[in-house]
Amino acid sequence: MTLPTAHTLFDVSDAVCLITGGASGIGLAYAEVMLANGAKVHIIDRDQAAIDAALAALGTPTSAWGHCADVTVADQLAAAIAGVVQDSGRIDVAFVNAGIGGGPGFLKGDGERNGERSFEDLPFDQWTRVMDVNVNAAFRTMQGVVRVMKQHGGGRIIVTTSVSATKTEQHVGTPYVVSKAAIAHLVRQAALELVRFNITVNAIAPGPFITNISGGRLRQADARAPFERLIPMHRLGTDMDIQGAALFLASPAARYITGAHITIDGGFSLGTAD
Ligand SMILES: NC(=O)c1ccc[n+]([C@@H]2O[C@H](COP(=O)([O-])OP(=O)(O)OC[C@H]3O[C@@H](n4cnc5c(N)ncnc54)[C@H](O)[C@@H]3O)[C@@H](O)[C@H]2O)c1
Repeated sequence: MTLPTAHTLFDVSDAVCLITGGASGIGLAYAEVMLANGAKVHIIDRDQAAIDAALAALGTPTSAWGHCADVTVADQLAAAIAGVVQDSGRIDVAFVNAGIGGGPGFLKGDGERNGERSFEDLPFDQWTRVMDVNVNAAFRTMQGVVRVMKQHGGGRIIVTTSVSATKTEQHVGTPYVVSKAAIAHLVRQAALELVRFNITVNAIAPGPFITNISGGRLRQADARAPFERLIPMHRLGTDMDIQGAALFLASPAARYITGAHITIDGGFSLGTAD
């Protein structure tokens, strides 16, 4: 009998893992935890220099590869996914994570209205770009990995959504909020259909994390301030706050879980506490 130790429950050793947007922020945190636990990691990102820097930051492990592709360009995405299969033979775990921000919200950090972000003036090209990356490319990535997973008996898909998928936001741009709601429901829809093929589909829904999204906006104290005020834990998320859930969803411990969303937000989505 296999004892339910942390080692067996969370064993991802030799799992072949693909991470879109893995060269920065939350995706890089996923790469780190998967590598640290013995997985083979393939980073797909649009920026070769960022991929090189990410691989260097990870210690240039022999079990990590980079694939330069813009996930919104179908041919590039297909070539990157084919490259993963060529290098490692299959895909066991796919973190569908590449995403972009949707500009500031309709309130400024000081609570005043941001006239440039009025509903009727939101630029339509920003709306379509956000949908293209956060929804269309994520859908296409899921399609690509599902084709591979069906051939190899199953797999795990883990989509980075957001707390913005289920709550309204004053300090986050409207296109982003709507894009995350769309992809969150795709997670449930895909989970239902793909059960039969031993493919689970789950989401990690982060609250605000300090990353390079939106030009690294949350690295600035004034952009962080409203979130630090509103989040019940009064701080933004860091790598370690999200790595446990990533490892869990990728591991045997989560084998009976599909269509779930794990919210990681210091209580942000619950409301204010003080
Ligand atoms: N940081 C937050 O506060 C936060 C909160 C909730 C959800 N998220 C989600 O987390 C995910 C990761 O974002 P992050 O905060 O780590 O940001 P980030 O900017 O640090 O990392 C995103 C990565 O995705 C890549 N990427 C973007 N568009 C791409 C494209 N078209 N093709 C290939 N790669 C592309 C970027 O190059 C970058 O390396 C996103 O889906 C984001 O919406 C972030």
